[in-house]
Amino acid sequence: MTKLSIPILLGSCRIGRESLKVAKFILAELVKQNLINTELIDLGEYKLPMLEERLQDSSNPPENLLKFCSKLGQADGILLVTPEYKNGYPGVLKNALDYLEPKALKYKPIGICTVSSGGFGGLDCLAQLRLVCLALGALPIPDKLPVANVKELFDENGNLSDLKFKIRLESFINELVWYTEAMVNQKRCISL
Ligand SMILES: Cc1cc2nc3c(=O)[nH]c(=O)nc-3n(C[C@H](O)[C@H](O)[C@H](O)COP(=O)(O)O)c2cc1C
Repeated sequence: MTKLSIPILLGSCRIGRESLKVAKFILAELVKQNLINTELIDLGEYKLPMLEERLQDSSNPPENLLKFCSKLGQADGILLVTPEYKNGYPGVLKNALDYLEPKALKYKPIGICTVSSGGFGGLDCLAQLRLVCLALGALPIPDKLPVANVKELFDENGNLSDLKFKIRLESFINELVWYTEAMVNQKRCISL
């Protein structure tokens, strides 16, 4: 059986962002597990232009935009890591998702990991982002992975300080894989 494809989408481009450390840690854990195909889709690297027209209306869309949309379109599921900004999600993330066609992520499970420097772990951002996922036809999974006090998650050498995070991460990944596998199997049955 082919491995599931679940890329990690990082929803921030801020210089010095802490959420990049979280995304890289999750990526390293997934690579170590070797159960799924994954990669980091970092909006800080994509540098997508501010949306002035929809992708389908654009006569000459930039290469990186086509690549971004195609990677998400090909994914079986998505693990989204994003900081909370002003009780919501970063503008760069919304701008990127707005490029996708309305049902571009139909039947794709999305696991959301929200990151904040405060004590609540970005729960307002999580609630809002779930609505955005629904507008794309995606299935935000019931499990969540809020990371509160992110500056205390790693020590000065970049090692994990909060060992409980690893346990929460494992359970979150298991759930995301479960939903993704279920959706992929259902799509296979229908196309038989
Ligand atoms: C523009 C901006 C708005 C923010 N708004 C919030 C917020 O509403 N709630 C919160 O807990 N943290 C907020 N933060 C702090 C972030 O949680 C903090 O920067 C954390 O490290 C995650 O974001 P990062 O990946 O950009 O570092 C904000 C940070 C920025 C840069």
